Amino acid sequence: MTQTEDKITLSTEDTPLVPMEKIVSLCKRRGFVYPNSEIYGGVSGIYDFGPLGVELRNNIRRYWWWSMVQTNDNVVGIEGNIITHPRVWEASGHVENFVDRLVECKNCKRRFRVDQLPKENLEQNKCPVCGGELGEPRVFNLMMETYIGVVEGERMKTYLRGEACQNIYLDYDNVQKSSRMQIPFGICQIGKAFRNEVTPGNFLFRQREFEQWDLQFFVHPSEMQKWFDYWRERRFEWYKGIINHKDRLRLRPHGPDELAHYAKQAFDIEYRSVLGWQEWEGIHWRQDWDLSRHSQFSGQDLSYTDQETKERYIPWIVETSGGVDRTFLNLLLDAYEEEPPSGKDKEGRTVLRLHPWFAPVKVAVLPLQKNKEELVTTARDIHKRLQRLMVSQYDDVANIGRRYRRQDEIGTPFCVTVDFQTLEDQTVTVRERDGMTQIRLQIKELPAYLLERVMWNYS
Ligand code: GAP
Repeated sequence: MTQTEDKITLSTEDTPLVPMEKIVSLCKRRGFVYPNSEIYGGVSGIYDFGPLGVELRNNIRRYWWWSMVQTNDNVVGIEGNIITHPRVWEASGHVENFVDRLVECKNCKRRFRVDQLPKENLEQNKCPVCGGELGEPRVFNLMMETYIGVVEGERMKTYLRGEACQNIYLDYDNVQKSSRMQIPFGICQIGKAFRNEVTPGNFLFRQREFEQWDLQFFVHPSEMQKWFDYWRERRFEWYKGIINHKDRLRLRPHGPDELAHYAKQAFDIEYRSVLGWQEWEGIHWRQDWDLSRHSQFSGQDLSYTDQETKERYIPWIVETSGGVDRTFLNLLLDAYEEEPPSGKDKEGRTVLRLHPWFAPVKVAVLPLQKNKEELVTTARDIHKRLQRLMVSQYDDVANIGRRYRRQDEIGTPFCVTVDFQTLEDQTVTVRERDGMTQIRLQIKELPAYLLERVMWNYS
């Protein structure tokens, strides 16, 4: 099975996996994602998000923020800046160690990361694509450089942050004191990160500009294991709760060769798609590494004093680090389905079975015919009212079947149709995306009915 096959394929476990091309094409066609600077030929590993894409991203961010910050009394949020003092990246080890080793095939000129080459190719120095000879490995730093200041000679070189979480360590002491947080407590952030990836690719999976979300949870060293286990399970359940194919999710412990020198353990939450099993989020045992390094490099004391015992120590950290972009991609890969023609739908359809919480459009309001003024006026009025509560779309172009399919393809969970009966008894048809079932409701019942299913509960 390869990424280039242009059909729904079966994995070894007989679960249909969607080729990436289907998602890329849907994203462009329906306004989820576009290649950045496309009219100039694009930039590898950089994308823009269209009208539906920005709604989906906002929903993803909002759901993560709500479940990590707003529903946990011992977690608060920050929004740190992309640019920081350059010493931050010396302390973090990025200037020295944030590198990829790369080899280039002398024959086909393809480039490969050494750590991703199959073992036999590495041993035989052979290109995995054309069999040609591979050149000597070269080392590349992934940090993106930038400059602060305008006068040549006085300009300070710094970096666009290579991982968003560094702001949390920088702000940790301010947050703890200003918010009077007691250990154990956590700080969350969603923000952009930049990496000069040497092999960007697989659409949104490996980009050069992307958005990370982090929880850094500060604990007493004696409680590290307890909280590590706690957050690993919580985050695993979180991902399980947002996908349909639960069998495509697993927790993979890092092997000894993957662990940072200070980490007792680490796990990747992985999702299985046409790319194989790939990391979605990392659960990391960061111990006191980050705060100790920043204490050392800045000369500031970042230790914490327990109010009751007066014990003074550098807190240890559990990190859960994932991102908006891989969540965006995996949700689409997980939700996309092509249904063959059936009794209910004679032409077949493409449907995005997104959880309604994430759906970019929650409801579409459709007059049965666009040349009947009363139908159009009533439908527009319902649409305007629903817009106060949720993202609603009005559509009167093409026959009703085509309009339903257009909404199915972007994952809209409900369509409301205004027909001639509406004008007599103030009822509308509500059609549900997944089962294509239809019920009739009073117009005044719509807000509660939709809100409950879209924002509250969905079954
Ligand atoms: N602070 C820890 C850290 O940055 P990481 O495994 O390098 O760890 C965490 O990144 C998460 O950020 C990944 O699990 C992934 O979701 C996302 N991520 C990392 N590199 C990415 C890239 N080039 N494109 C898109 N997302 C990326």
